[in-house]
Order: sequence, then structure tokens, then C-alpha cells
Amino acid sequence: MPPARPEDAAAILQALISPAGRLDPFPLYAAAHRIGPVLTVTDSVFLVVGYAAVNQVLRNPGFGLPDTTPSRSAPAVDRTAGAALRMMERSILRANPPNHGRMRSLISQVFTPRRVAALQPSVEAAVDTLLDRLAEPAADDGMVDFMDQFAFQLPVTVICELLGIPARDRHKFRPLASALTAALELAGDADGPADAAARDLGRYFTPLISERRTAPGDDLVSALVAARDADDGRLSDEELLANLILLLVAGFETTTDLLGNGLAILLDRPDLATALRPGSATTAGFIEEVLRYESPVQVTTRVALIDGLTAEDVPVPDGSDVILVLGAANRDPGRYHRPDCFDATRSDIKPLSFGAGPHICIGNSLARLEASVAFPRLLSRFPDLSADPGRQPTRRDRLVLRGYQTLPVRVRP
Ligand code: HEM
Repeated sequence: MPPARPEDAAAILQALISPAGRLDPFPLYAAAHRIGPVLTVTDSVFLVVGYAAVNQVLRNPGFGLPDTTPSRSAPAVDRTAGAALRMMERSILRANPPNHGRMRSLISQVFTPRRVAALQPSVEAAVDTLLDRLAEPAADDGMVDFMDQFAFQLPVTVICELLGIPARDRHKFRPLASALTAALELAGDADGPADAAARDLGRYFTPLISERRTAPGDDLVSALVAARDADDGRLSDEELLANLILLLVAGFETTTDLLGNGLAILLDRPDLATALRPGSATTAGFIEEVLRYESPVQVTTRVALIDGLTAEDVPVPDGSDVILVLGAANRDPGRYHRPDCFDATRSDIKPLSFGAGPHICIGNSLARLEASVAFPRLLSRFPDLSADPGRQPTRRDRLVLRGYQTLPVRVRP
């Protein structure tokens, strides 16, 4: 394979962050795959699209997050970064060893598989309550925005119950999370709304932490506060706050997009909707294929922390920025037969949608649980569910987080 011409790689990256690329990145991913698994954009910027290459970089501890410790002479992260990025940098999402392992072990201790599995009945109850609301005769002539009325409501309810956040506060979080995560976009504007959202979320959690310190409950905020106060030095106050905000935002934003992306596919494919009624064995395969085909997180990034690294066979110098396109890896023709076709019967699918390696998504089983409860119940309750003929869906204007802003549906004929 001839080496990629830098101008091709740079043109693809530019196109990806353009409005048209954000709306439909998939033809650009296909063009990138024709060049190779690792594209050299400049001497110190690489675009990684191959499945094996993305998987390998994610698992290699030599690739990490921009180091903000004072000991590193040339910090890769702008220290003037706004409140949103500064806050995220204190969370596990943006931490390197040893801080990452220290925080991750503590969060895993309270966010256990047992706690997640025990949530099944409350996820079922939350789904049924939301479906009851959709069915209310008052819901204007059966037309509803699925994103607003269901896809956002379910994950925010579940994560807030887990964290112990009162029901009355939940409506605030969709705009705040959306503003905050804009800072993760490749051409992100870290100022303005993202920073304001970070400050608002900080102002929300600070009194909640004090409240749970005085009167602990059976919730994750109380559990993490207790772990913090055990005074074993494992979590600072700032880290506690950053990780609680991360758990809240990561806990619903991406799952909202999984539910919306999945429903949009079902509205186009009534044959699949029939196959997904409760009791069918195809739900898990369908969800994995939605995760692959329309990955809610399309992109993540790393920095080369040491010399001598390679991605596939391409040398990646120390300090380089590495853009890992999970959504492209999930459509790698070398890994998947007919990658641009949705096929819920694929075997050995293993999409990289939750990442891989040390930062693999802590909430992946919760997201899968919510989707696997939601889709069959939704389709059984509303067998005639269809797209609203009068209103087009609108996409979020994002590359990194792929989903719908609105998805108008008709729940009754
Ligand atoms: C469909 C839903 C979801 C998707 C697609 C998703 C995707 C991801 C991805 C790709 C990463 C790794 C990022 C990287 O390596 O740079 C990640 C990390 C993370 N996710 Fe999720 N996620 C989802 C749901 C959730 C849920 C429900 C929660 C919490 C309850 C959650 C909490 C986290 C946390 C805390 C991390 C950071 C882990 C670490 O850095 O060690 N996610 N997620």
C-alpha cells in the first residue's frame, strides 16, 4: 500500500469537521479506508481509521491523554483551557496512570456489575412509565418527539436514580450536558456555553455532595463521598466533583443517542421492528449492530506520551496527536463484510463503540441493559409506531457525539 499523501489525509480531516462531514461522515471514512488504516495529517497529527489500528492504540499505554502535570516540559494541553476542559481533565476520562487507575478502581468499586444488574426492574419500570405517558390521550394526536419524550428521559432517569439526584432536577441536564460535551468536538469551542455548563453543573453538585456527606443514602454520590472521606488520598475534592459530573453526563447523553439512532433505523426497516418484539433472541444482535453502524461516540483522541511508538507500522513521534475514529473502525471493510449495510445478524461483531483498553466505558453494560429493555417494550406497546410524516428528524450538529436532536414519531395511527 503506498503511503498516504498528507494532503489527502488533511483534506479528509478538514471535510470531517465541516458541517457536511458532521452530518454524514461515512463516505469520508470509506475514502480514508482506501488510503490505509493510519493517515498522516502532519508530522505530529495522525488520523487512525482501521479497526485493528484503533484497537491497538487504545490498548497501548504509551498513548494517553494530554499530560497536564507540571513536570512535563511541553504540555500538550493549553493551560488556558476553559472551565469545561479543565473539569474533564480532572476526571478519569482524561487521566493517565497512575491517577487513572487510582480513580477508576474507586469508581468501579461503587459502580459494580451487581449494582447494574440489580437495576433491571427499575429500568423496566422506568420504560413502562414513559410508554404510559406516550400513550396518554393528551399526547397531541399521537405525534411526539421521541428524543425529548423517551430517548433522553430513560437514561437520565436511570443514571439520576443511581446517583441519587432528585427527579425534579432532571429536566435541567439535557441542555447542560449538550453544551458541556461541545468541548469534546475536534474543532470544539471550549469557551462560552461549555464553560458556563461546567460551572452550572459544579454549582449543582457542590451542595449535593455536602448534603450526602451529612445524610448519606444508598446512592453513588453518597458512596463516592464516603470513599473520598475515608481519607486514603484516593480522590481529591476536585476529582470527586469532576467524576460525578462525568458519570451524570456520560450516563445519559450517549445512551440517549443509542436509543435515537436505533429507533431511526427501525423506522426505516419495519421488518426489523417485527423481529424485535419481546421474547425474540435478536435484540442483543440488533443493539450491537446499532452501536457499530451508528456509533454514538464516533471519535476519541490520544497523545503519544513516549518515543518509539507506532500505529500499525506508521511511526508516531512523542507528543503527536492521534485522532481515533471509532465510527470508521466500526465500518472497516477489512474487518466487516459490507460495512455500510445494517445487518443485525452479524456474528463476531465486537464494535469499538465503547472504546477498549484501560479507558473502556465503565457504563457499557448499563447502556446495553437500557436499550435491551427499551426497544422490545416500545415496539410491543406501539406496533404501529412510524415516522411523523409532517416533520423531518434533525441531527445534532456534531462529529464526536452522533445522534438526533429531534426524532418526530407517530405512536398511534
Ligand atoms: C451507548 C452508550 C455509551 C457509549 C457509546 C459510551 C462510549 C464511551 C467511550 C467510547 C468511552 C471511552 C473513551 C476513551 O477511551 O477515550 C467511554 C468512557 C466512559 N464512559 Fe461511556 N458510553 C456510553 C454509556 C455510558 C454510561 C451509561 C456511563 C455511566 C453510567 C458511562 C460512563 C463512562 C465513563 C465514566 C467513562 C470513562 C472511563 C475511563 O476513562 O476509564 N458511559 N464511554
